[in-house]
Amino acid sequence: MSTVYLVTGSNRGIGLGLVAHILEKHDDAFVYAGVRNPGQASDLRALQIRYSSRMAIVECVSADVEGNAGLAGEIEKRHGRVDTVVANAAICNSSDTVSEISAADIEEHFHVNVTGTVVLFQAMYGLLRKSASPRFVPISTSAACLDGNAIKFPTGSVAYGATKAALNWATRKIHFENEWLVVFPLSPGPVDTDMRRTMLASVASGTSQKRRKATENPPTAEIVSVALVKLIDESTRDKDGGQFVHIDGTQLSW
Ligand SMILES: NC(=O)c1ccc[n+]([C@@H]2O[C@H](COP(=O)([O-])OP(=O)(O)OC[C@H]3O[C@@H](n4cnc5c(N)ncnc54)[C@H](OP(=O)(O)O)[C@@H]3O)[C@@H](O)[C@H]2O)c1
Repeated sequence: MSTVYLVTGSNRGIGLGLVAHILEKHDDAFVYAGVRNPGQASDLRALQIRYSSRMAIVECVSADVEGNAGLAGEIEKRHGRVDTVVANAAICNSSDTVSEISAADIEEHFHVNVTGTVVLFQAMYGLLRKSASPRFVPISTSAACLDGNAIKFPTGSVAYGATKAALNWATRKIHFENEWLVVFPLSPGPVDTDMRRTMLASVASGTSQKRRKATENPPTAEIVSVALVKLIDESTRDKDGGQFVHIDGTQLSW
């Protein structure tokens, strides 16, 4: 029986890498590639030519309650269940400190990064319950750690870090509420994507220059996706459930 995956935010970056690697690694996988605008997903269209019978490019906008429910209906009709949901879509549009950030920027980040993941979980709940091996894995970040560098240095974005910390809380709560499910926030480490490049370009202090040097050559999304897919596929409730899992398989402190 095929494994049915849904990966959100898969138009580019880590999401695109995950979709490509799942299809390459698993001959039996079917992947729903969730994007904001299917008509403009050119890299996914190239993948679809190669894997036409094993993937669908579907609209999945964060926190769109009706849209997410409609997508669940589409998956229900075609497969009757979903096995693995990777809640990857997120934004990091601001490097502002707490004294600078606007209420609108915080709310926008909360809407996409937290509400978006909760709405996705609610929409996929019934389909996950029908899986023999259900997994729900939000992509988080070590920037959410309460004892990490992002919170200590002025360059850490409060809108991003605080909403990812809230995402971690909601994800751990899902773990305790649903004993049938494997669910945990997964930190990919630094990855060379648009999100990271934009964030680095927007910070200009000496501290950030030092941090930039320290992680000058982060791995590509293609490389990171290999490790992420392995971690996700091999995850169990006993080993990973409700933990904050890093890409190297270790557990991060919250
Ligand atoms: N890159 C890193 O160093 C790093 C480190 C730690 C954690 N992460 C996490 O890894 C995940 C992927 O990040 P990335 O680096 O690949 O970022 P990215 O290159 O900026 O890609 C983000 C993806 O999310 C989608 N997205 C944004 N807002 C959305 C919305 N409202 N509804 C639906 N989709 C939306 C984007 O869609 P469009 O293409 O349509 O804009 C894009 O496909 C995120 O959860 C991020 O927090 C990244």
